[in-house]
Amino acid sequence: MQRTHNCGQLNLKDENKQVVLSGWVNSRRDHGGLIFIDLRDREGLTQIVFDPQVNSSVHELAQSLRSEFVISVQGKVSARPEGTINPKIATGQIEIIIEQLEVLNKAQALPFEVNDDKDVGEELRLAYRYLDLRRKKMKDNLILRSKVFNVIRSFLCEQGFLEIETPILTKSTPEGARDYLVPSRLNNGEFFALPQSPQLFKQILMVSGFDKYYQIAKCFRDEDLRKDRQPEFTQLDMEMSFVEEEEIYDLLERLLAEVFQKTMNKKLVTPFLRVTHEQAILCFGSDKPDTRYDLELKDLNSLAESSEFMVFKKVIESKGKIMGLKAPGGAQFTLKQLDDLTKQAIDLGAKGLVWIKVQENDFQSPVKKHLGDSLLKNLTVEFKTKPGDLLLLVADKQKTALSVLGQLRVNVAGMLKLDQSDDFNFLWVTDFPLFKYNEEEKRWDSEHHPFTSPKPEDLEFLDTDRARVRSCAYDLVVNGTELGSGSIRIHNPELQEKIFSILGLGKEEIEAKFGFLLKAFKYGAPPHGGFAPGMDRLLTLMTGSSSIRDVIAFPKTQKAFCPLTSAPSKIAQAQLDELHLTIKEE
Ligand code: AMO
Ligand code: AMP
Repeated sequence: MQRTHNCGQLNLKDENKQVVLSGWVNSRRDHGGLIFIDLRDREGLTQIVFDPQVNSSVHELAQSLRSEFVISVQGKVSARPEGTINPKIATGQIEIIIEQLEVLNKAQALPFEVNDDKDVGEELRLAYRYLDLRRKKMKDNLILRSKVFNVIRSFLCEQGFLEIETPILTKSTPEGARDYLVPSRLNNGEFFALPQSPQLFKQILMVSGFDKYYQIAKCFRDEDLRKDRQPEFTQLDMEMSFVEEEEIYDLLERLLAEVFQKTMNKKLVTPFLRVTHEQAILCFGSDKPDTRYDLELKDLNSLAESSEFMVFKKVIESKGKIMGLKAPGGAQFTLKQLDDLTKQAIDLGAKGLVWIKVQENDFQSPVKKHLGDSLLKNLTVEFKTKPGDLLLLVADKQKTALSVLGQLRVNVAGMLKLDQSDDFNFLWVTDFPLFKYNEEEKRWDSEHHPFTSPKPEDLEFLDTDRARVRSCAYDLVVNGTELGSGSIRIHNPELQEKIFSILGLGKEEIEAKFGFLLKAFKYGAPPHGGFAPGMDRLLTLMTGSSSIRDVIAFPKTQKAFCPLTSAPSKIAQAQLDELHLTIKEE
């Protein structure tokens, strides 16, 4: 037998048992003839002791053991002597006095230590991912990931959901990124696309009558990578028929509460807060506001009208906005920090930044004179300031003022350490606009995806005032990160066709890309809707990781490269020929 117990299992109740353990040498200490080894496996550490008096040849063999050797040992569980108990580990009250040792495999000197959490360059960690995954933090992340999936599966099964797989080799599913394409050997010049999400298949499953579907689904998107994005990632994809938005919110709240309760013993506050997209933009300058802190933006036009400050006068004349935010305690910022904030504002598209430090009965600001006493006074009333607060004002087109201050809000919260709380502030952002105008290409794009239903009451504006049409789409945001999105879908083929044509698709293109969906909708499509939270983002949040890569076993780098396998890589000419492909020289 290679093992009777794992390395996290034994305790005082097992005293005097004969056991066999197998695992990796985590560390070795020699003490006056005795050799102590922490033996490690997935479950934990157990101290094993080699005593020359128990078996001298085994003790001699133990001297050859090095870090990460794989060994199997047999011995007797013994209570640790007084003063050597380690309360930090589950097996800390016992040790095993070893009688037999078998070296199952040696290990070379490692490129980095696996039994501490010293910072190691990420490229190296990814190249030796199998070693990186032996480190406690990474191991714990993957164990949590598995537990979360388990809880999700049992919860959704109890709620009557069916888990159904959808194809990976398929046709393009537009979610706003580029497709990963796979050339077809059997069909010269034709390509499969890897799904950006299972969106179309889950809608078609609704037409088939599988009215509660879910899938823990791999999605593929060829887009510029950031710290919360991977080219392939995992969604919990869900869809339901005969459902209303409220039922989807309720289901997701119960599901997430269960996940946090069962895997982290953490109670989530439900129902989650809600804000409409419009309110979110006006109050926070963002459609994914971090609500761990207030720092609300305010429209200051009516106050600023009285001011002689030319910058404000001009912006008010041109129907722009003066917007501002209060940073409580921000008067502590140095001039250098305020210069940095001004630079950030300008990089984000503002023309400048007015800062005002509120003091006991006075103000400090480079434009104090221009602003004038009455505006300054009114600002303190509007913002309910206290001495020591800082006000930041931007005057510009409303859209610019909001987006610049929305980002400064986040940066200032960081400087004031308001974003350090490890609470999870969940927020539904509802009533997204259906379209956004693409200035570069002079056309309308979907704000979410083209299958999202307009609000029935806004249908009348589809032809007359597109910016005004709201959709039945909602996002779930946590601490400033978009965790998931969903919507009630269009199930009427005529309306779906109309939306495609507003998005600039011609009849033939609609037929070629989405004809199969429109056809399906003609054979009895029920009303339906759904949601998809990103699992990697959820786990990043739950584990407090700084990168999404820390919760994925084998992630890609920012350049969409796998240092472990060196993928992507070149292929042989014969394979190219079979696939009817020629590589174009750059
Ligand atoms: P959406 O495109 O908003 O919606 O994606 C849903 C969630 O998936 C996660 N996500 C990602 N995670 C890591 N890396 C990426 N590159 C990445 N892209 C997206 C995010 C995001 O919130 N079909 C719709 C859902 C629906 O309408 O039901 C969809 O895919 O957490
Ligand atoms: P200027 O008149 O350009 O020298 O700017 C005077 C002060 O007002 C500087 O501190 C600028 O950063 C600030 N400022 C200029 N334009 C704007 C604007 N549109 N919004 C906010 N502050 C501005």
